[in-house]
Amino acid sequence: MKSDYAVVINSLSIKIGNKQVLKNINLKIPKNTVFAIMGPSGSGKSTLLRSINKLWDLYPEVKVSGEIYVDGINVNEIDPHELRKIVGMVFQRPNPFPHMSIYDNVAIGPKLHKLYKKKEELDKIVEWALKKAYLWDEVKDDLKRKASKLSGGQQQRLCIARAIALKPKVLLMDEPTSALDIVSTKRLEENIVELKKDFTIVIVTHNPQQAARISDYVAFIYNGELIEVGPTKEVFTRPKHELTEKYVLGKV
Ligand SMILES: Nc1ncnc2c1ncn2[C@@H]1O[C@H](COP(=O)(O)OP(=O)(O)O)[C@@H](O)[C@H]1O
Ligand SMILES: [Mg+2]
Repeated sequence: MKSDYAVVINSLSIKIGNKQVLKNINLKIPKNTVFAIMGPSGSGKSTLLRSINKLWDLYPEVKVSGEIYVDGINVNEIDPHELRKIVGMVFQRPNPFPHMSIYDNVAIGPKLHKLYKKKEELDKIVEWALKKAYLWDEVKDDLKRKASKLSGGQQQRLCIARAIALKPKVLLMDEPTSALDIVSTKRLEENIVELKKDFTIVIVTHNPQQAARISDYVAFIYNGELIEVGPTKEVFTRPKHELTEKYVLGKV
């Protein structure tokens, strides 16, 4: 069933061991937006993000209840391999395959998912993804170079190219700029805003200023609870909850 929302989360609760890490989260993420999840360290942001692509399936101590839909599809009713195709992920630290070439880092997903018939088609996908990630101009002359030779900012853009080469519906990003310098952070933030034309971006940040700069909608998570969610401008200028106001002013 098609949905107006890229992601819908209904009554999501997550327990890790004996700890209730998320409590009854309800969220709707509109398509082609940058949706930020902000909150202090330890509030449950990464846990929430990881539930969208079911990374928790690999951890027996993590108990997940509730429902999550991606583009109208219940994530529990789809093959995990297929889910990873429609939901891409970029992590805190750039994690390209360091010994593989730039080309192969981007080509590996389309290869595994058999998204092309001829080599020329694969070349096109790689070029398209590297252009979307604003890396193409810097690497086009030597795509055989090892990924480890790139700078941190370039490696993170390579990880974005690798994720979007599969043309996912949703791109999850967990504090993607936290290991980058100011200049690389600014470039990546501009890149993220551009990417929403093609994808829906869900980005975790512990930095309210970053959420204010790049997101259309923002959810504020505190101690495992969704305190407030809404259009970013409203949440920052007229927060409904005192805790949100304190957080955006840097007081919690
Ligand atoms: N694998 C794990 N095992 C035990 N506790 C965990 C695990 N992952 C997260 N937690 C706990 O869940 C809470 C939320 O963590 P997390 O989602 O990483 O927060 P955030 O991303 O907002 O910093 C923390 O108290 C953390 O200690
Ligand atoms: Mg985190």
